[in-house]
Amino acid sequence: MTKRLVYLDNAATTPVRPEVLDAMLPYLGKEAFGNPSSAHRFGRAARAAVEQAKRAIAETVGAEPNQIVFTSGGTEADNLAVIGAALASRDRGGPFRVAVTATEHKAVLAAAHAVTHLGGEEIILPVSGSGTVDEAAFEAALARGLALVSVMWVNNEVGTVQPIERLAARSGDAGVPFHCDAVQAFGKVPVSLRDVPCTLLTISGHKIGSPKGIGALVVRDRHAVEPIIHGGGQQFGIRPGTENVPGIVALGKAVELAAQEHVELAARLRALRDDFEGRVLAIVPDAVINGWTAERAPHVSNVSIPGTDSEALLMHFDLAGIACSSGSACSTGAVEPSHVLTAMGVPRDLGIAALRFSFGKDSTTDDVDAVIAALPKIVEKVRSLAAVLHR
Ligand SMILES: Cc1ncc(COP(=O)(O)O)c(C=O)c1O
Repeated sequence: MTKRLVYLDNAATTPVRPEVLDAMLPYLGKEAFGNPSSAHRFGRAARAAVEQAKRAIAETVGAEPNQIVFTSGGTEADNLAVIGAALASRDRGGPFRVAVTATEHKAVLAAAHAVTHLGGEEIILPVSGSGTVDEAAFEAALARGLALVSVMWVNNEVGTVQPIERLAARSGDAGVPFHCDAVQAFGKVPVSLRDVPCTLLTISGHKIGSPKGIGALVVRDRHAVEPIIHGGGQQFGIRPGTENVPGIVALGKAVELAAQEHVELAARLRALRDDFEGRVLAIVPDAVINGWTAERAPHVSNVSIPGTDSEALLMHFDLAGIACSSGSACSTGAVEPSHVLTAMGVPRDLGIAALRFSFGKDSTTDDVDAVIAALPKIVEKVRSLAAVLHR
């Protein structure tokens, strides 16, 4: 009998949805493979598909179709936002300084750091124990003058939701462009720019059932960013390069489906996640749910199990057919807590013992049952091994 596999790593990526695959297939084959910049009928068919995807995304996020700039994913969109805004400000004679939260995805943090290599400055905003941005530090950074401030909507490791509406409004009042990485938020919590003065917003396809390698930056003020890739005039020159038409069609379809389903999905994932956490704590009473005091997106649970280490836990879960993710990073041979848990002030021993379970559209109670059934033995094994190693 083949082992039933359990996938609880949906914050890392999701499978392509059948509806999304059906929508994109014609744009890979002989029917509609045209270059959207070509004037003939093949090109026009491709252009129509790109425009349709833009309308679907714009309608969902509360923007205009011509504000949707497609990229090769969330990473590129974040880089375009952070570096592009820094360059645009510098070129206008404005501040060459960006501020980003300490718990941002590396796509934002590394882009902010790249600004320093270009001669600019980065400010890293601290967070509270639950991962929300320190608003006094946020205000102080705004007061210094910024090319951009970037705060993610939902954290990818712990699920903390930031008060984006308030932060974007404050940033707007201070005349500072505001970027939000909504990669983990989209489809899980309501993401609408209708009442949020957010200048730039990142989304990524593969977290919501479209293939990897497609994302978008919503650019509500075209003067807010300089291109970071140079080429033809596609996408108003903000992101030149022949558009990834099948990917764009897939993203449009995935966004449309997510918009229809997110309320019901969020309620279902929250119930699954809460049941999961309650049962984990019943088995391992000293386990710690990282970020639990904040408002959290419903699909992420980050659990530290004292006396263990995440790599060993991850390996044992994998052997049991359960896929999750480790909250630590193995750098230069030593296991270190992730930058997110470190910034939240999680003690090192708990930081290196953290696992992230992330739920998705296809997650079920059977998945939770499987983890709960495997958990006691795995914890016992990893704890006894750790005890021997540290004797
Ligand atoms: C919050 C966040 N931002 C950005 C990214 C990068 O997106 P992509 O994988 O599409 O480059 C991810 C992916 O893990 C993410 O979780």
